[in-house]
Amino acid sequence: MSGVIPAEPRLGDFAAGQLIRLCEVAGLGPTDTAAYARVLSESLGPVAERSLALPPPSRSFLSDDHTPVEYSLAFLPGTAPALRVLLEPGCGTDDLVENGRTGLRAIRAMAERWGFATRQLDRIEDLFFPGSPEGGFALWCALELRSGGVPGVKVYLNPSANGPERAAETVREALARLGHRQAFDALPRADGFPFVALDLGDWEAPRVKVYLMHQGLSAAEAGSLPRMAPPPGQERLEEFFRTVGDLPAAGDLTAEGKDRLTGRPALTCHSFTETATGLPSGYTLHVPVRDYVRHDGQARERAVTVLRRHGMDSVALDRALAAVGSRRLSDGVGLIAYLALVHERGRPPRVTVYVSSEAYEVRPPREAFPTRDRVRAGL
Ligand code: TRP
Repeated sequence: MSGVIPAEPRLGDFAAGQLIRLCEVAGLGPTDTAAYARVLSESLGPVAERSLALPPPSRSFLSDDHTPVEYSLAFLPGTAPALRVLLEPGCGTDDLVENGRTGLRAIRAMAERWGFATRQLDRIEDLFFPGSPEGGFALWCALELRSGGVPGVKVYLNPSANGPERAAETVREALARLGHRQAFDALPRADGFPFVALDLGDWEAPRVKVYLMHQGLSAAEAGSLPRMAPPPGQERLEEFFRTVGDLPAAGDLTAEGKDRLTGRPALTCHSFTETATGLPSGYTLHVPVRDYVRHDGQARERAVTVLRRHGMDSVALDRALAAVGSRRLSDGVGLIAYLALVHERGRPPRVTVYVSSEAYEVRPPREAFPTRDRVRAGL
């Protein structure tokens, strides 16, 4: 080495710095924190060394500015939030074959390192990694950063790998191979199948998750889509959806016909943990809040409202937002990418906040966003 000091930080260091600060918010100790920072850099591979002065390594749609990393915090009442990190191990290339190969290699290396089986993934691998894959990504992975240094691992696969027209068939076949023969028929109608995800490793009840996309969803629909038994509270779901999507209260007559999301669509996720009932045991409603606010100050307010409504404290949220960056929340939009309300059988509802890394770009605030008040005033 010639001893040249890079002028710009590198992607791996930047993300590891964010992660280290987030680990403290999540109550992880110094040993776990150091280990997880290393895991993150290693999972990114050579891309970790890439200067942030260069453009993003690929067109990854994992985040809006193509940073191949996104954080999320899962809130529960009375305890520190759980920290997760979503990443794209194959992000060094836009070639989906190569990207997918790197992704699978990364997952198998994790399996070896943490001693878990990849049987479930092996069973469906050929469905999601065809010779000439299509779609927007090949494989993402999320790590739930638990205390003890061994993360929970989740793998995200692309149902459109064989073409979007075969996505439904791919999902049905994947569910069947995993033993969930009735699961596909239990799903509600949807406009697309963005992801299938698998829990790998040490989970109390490993899930197979099917994400559905719903164009122009209304609050009433968001509340009635869940097929899980017992069903989650419909009113709570509707209220969450209206709050996050800035939709009018039920019964607001001045707002007739404005009860649907018109920007980036909401996603739902149905999770399957057992094959006895054929029904999902979990339902998550994901709302891309970044499309329905002027700036992140507003997104934070919506998050705080939702957290309070579910008996959770927002102090950790503010600490987490400060941990990823120091810009004023009103100076950009997209730091808070999604807000989600999670229901799992036998557990209290959780709220998940997805926080962008913004390693490459901050989207400027929307000055003239047509909020409800402006629409009503005819502006
Ligand atoms: N960036 C993509 C999107 O906005 C995928 C994604 C990243 C995503 N994090 C997410 C989707 C959290 C749902 C929830 O769709």
